[in-house]
This record gives sequence, C-alpha cells and structure tokens, in this order.
Amino acid sequence: MTKYYIEELSKYDGQEVEIKGWVYNKRSSGKIKFLLVRDGTGIVQCVIVKNLVPEDVFEKFDLLTQESSLIIRGKVRKEDRAPGGYEIDTTDIQIVHIAKDYPITPKEHGIEFLADIRHLWLRSTRQHAIMRVRHEIIRSIREFFDSRGFTLIDAPIFTPAACEGTSTLFETEYFDLGKAYLTQSGQLYGEAGAMAFGKIYVFGPTFRAEKSKTRRHLTEFWMVEPEVAWNDLNDNMELAEEFLEHIVASVLKNRDKELKILERDITLLQKVKKPLPRISYSEAVDILKKNGIDFQWGNDFGGTDETVISSQFDKPVIVHRYPAEVKAFYMKRDPENEKLALAMDILAPEGYGEIIGGSQREDDYDTLVQRIKEHNLPMEAFEWYLDLRRYGSVPHSGFGLGVERTVAWICGLEHVRETIPFPRMIYRLTP
Ligand code: 4AD
Ligand code: MG
Repeated sequence: MTKYYIEELSKYDGQEVEIKGWVYNKRSSGKIKFLLVRDGTGIVQCVIVKNLVPEDVFEKFDLLTQESSLIIRGKVRKEDRAPGGYEIDTTDIQIVHIAKDYPITPKEHGIEFLADIRHLWLRSTRQHAIMRVRHEIIRSIREFFDSRGFTLIDAPIFTPAACEGTSTLFETEYFDLGKAYLTQSGQLYGEAGAMAFGKIYVFGPTFRAEKSKTRRHLTEFWMVEPEVAWNDLNDNMELAEEFLEHIVASVLKNRDKELKILERDITLLQKVKKPLPRISYSEAVDILKKNGIDFQWGNDFGGTDETVISSQFDKPVIVHRYPAEVKAFYMKRDPENEKLALAMDILAPEGYGEIIGGSQREDDYDTLVQRIKEHNLPMEAFEWYLDLRRYGSVPHSGFGLGVERTVAWICGLEHVRETIPFPRMIYRLTP
C-alpha cells in the first residue's frame, strides 16, 4: 500500500490520499471546518465541508483535540495560499487516540516549562525546524569527509585519562581497574587512526563537566574531529574553511524552508565562503585593546572577548598561534616562537563564539614526554599515545567542531539548549 507523506503531497495533486498524523490545530466557521494535521514531515490544512461528508465525519471534528492522532482521507488540491502549497478536501476521518489536555498550547510558555516537557516540545514547528537543520548539518559533515576519502574511526567513550584538561572530567568507577573518565574528545584515538589510515574523522558524543552556565555550554555534546597525517597548521586551516563552507552551503540548499520558519537572516550565511579571514592571537588581542577591553596578553579569551573579535568580521574568523600556556598538552610549539602553540580556533560571527578548536600536534617523543610531565598527567595512561611518536612519527594536524554551537549559529538561536534533542547541562538531566 502506498504511504503518503505531507512533504510529498505535490506528487498526488487531484488524487485521493490517506494521511496518518496528529492534530496540530483546528478552527471552524459554521459549515466549513479546518483541521491542521502534522505527520512529522509537514503540516497540511484539511478542509471539511458539511454537505460533502457524512454526518458522523463532520461531528468527529468536535471530538478532536490538539495532538490527538488520526487517519484522514481526502483529495489533494493545489492551493497557493497554503503553507505547503496544497490542501486536502476531506472525505473521511478515523480517530486513533484522543489526547487529553496537551500541555503546550499556542500561547507563550516559559522556557523552563518547555524544557521540562522537551519530549513533547520536539513536536512544535520551531523545534522541528531546528532538528531538521541539525540533521542536515550532520549529514553534510559525513558527506564532506566520506567524499574525500576519510575513514570514520569511532573513539571509545570510557577513557583512562584526560585529553582536554583535568578540571572538566566526569569520572566513574570501572570494576577492578580503578577510575574511568567519560571522553572529552576522541582526538588522541583519532591520531592513532591517522597514522593507520592517513586521514580519518571521529564523530561522537563528548563530555565536559563544565561548571559554566552559559548559552554555549552543554555537559554532553557532539563533536566531529578530523585528523590528517602530514598536514601542518596551514593545511589544517584550509581543511576547516572548506569544511565550514560545505556545511553552510548544504543547509542553505536543503533546509531553506526551515531557515525561513526560524526567521534566520541568511545574508550572512551566504558569505561563508573560503578563504576566511585569518588573524594571529596577538592581532586579536590588539583588536580587544582597540575596543577598550583591558586584556592581558597570555590569557585565554572569554565569551565576551570572542564576541568583540568576531564582530569585526562578517564571516567566521580563524585565530591562530595562541600562547601555549592556555592550550592543551599535545599542541606543537611554533618553531619561530616557543611561547606559541600551533593552534587555531574558528570564531563564528554574530557572537556565537568558538565553533572549531584545533592544532598541529607535537610529533617529537621527548618533547611530548616533557609536556605530559608539565601538565601533571599520568604517564602510564599515555604510553600507547607515545607509541605514535616511537614508531614512524610524522607531522599531523586536526580539529574539532562542536555540532551544537554550529547549529545555534546557523539557526540563529539564543542558546545551545535548543540545538540537541535532549540537552544535558549542569542543572538539567531530564527528560
Ligand atoms: O576546543 P575543544 O576543547 O577542542 C578539542 O576537544 C580538541 N581535542 C579538538 C581536536 O583538535 N580534535 O573543543 C572543540 C569544539 C569547540 O570549538 C566547541 O565548538 C565545542 O567543541 N565545545 C563545546 N560545545 C558545547 N558545550 C561545551 N561544553 C563545549 N566544549 C567544547
Ligand atoms: Mg577550544
């Protein structure tokens, strides 16, 4: 039997179809009643005319409440004023389940109220649009790497040590083996993958016990991390800008309807084309000072600093060569200035902050051993990682892109809590 979906109604103009869905809204004006039905792919208006349907079908309309499930039959008719371009002239209604007092009504609700019923909130038009953009971003990420010969390497989630600084580790008891930590990044395993496969990407959930309650922080988020053998910092920046261009172009092409629902101004997104502006950390500090911010060279940028720096550009901006002291142990130092790490971050425009963090990696065995000691990290846990510098070490680079911050930026959202189906933050573990 043919399955009909609202998104595909244009294929069935003039034909009888059957839509299985839920009541989104309804209104009536005497002898004509209107049901807005959603099926997950879209919303369609079904028209019920008193003289054209059996009495009982007309009466069923009154029983239907918001989010009641139903099967509705009727003829597809082109209607230019309808949101999807088509309406259904109803011939039959079959009620499947009556929803009682659905808690989300067309009126405004507070954000905490909605967050508590996130499992239902996902049905709303706006959340629906955001999740479809998220899916497109993830699809285009995979497409980008898959079409360029990268191999997907899945990194473990239980890990024996920190990757990105010990202050944000979630720990758990691991049988007789002591403590395990939820991964902060799959990068170290990605490096092993790059030495085996040349170019790889890791894509999975990552965890940070961030004490920050900002609009950019989650405790569980998704990160995609390419790692490429023989790439230096410059190659890394080139890969990142080509990657961002691809993601944004894919969303503009395939999710224009959703961006419209979100009322996203797409003129800035259309500018996301390589090359992206590149400035050094020191140049970024000069920008801060010029804007009256009292900033000390050597510190890491905070959210406000990132906003000021990125507001100077109408595209994402690459900031490179940070002070090594504020960056991770694995980053290679700049041979021209030992104080600097061969790091690069990409800051999104419009105040969305850092969406990409990456670097060239330290490939010298002795230097890396020294860094592990300086950072007071447990040497035993890194023995396997040091093997990558014992057996055929080569220059290599990679970066990590945070999916949720990217969704927030592309959708133009105020907070990352709307970018993932079920957000996890320090003050939220449910639903
Ligand atoms: O800059 P980060 O910490 O870099 C790494 O983890 C590297 N190991 C990546 C690599 O080189 N392979 O994190 C990368 C990105 C950030 O730019 C940001 O987009 C996102 O991950 N991110 C977060 N997103 C949401 N909530 C948080 N708490 C985040 N922390 C980082
Ligand atoms: Mg970072």
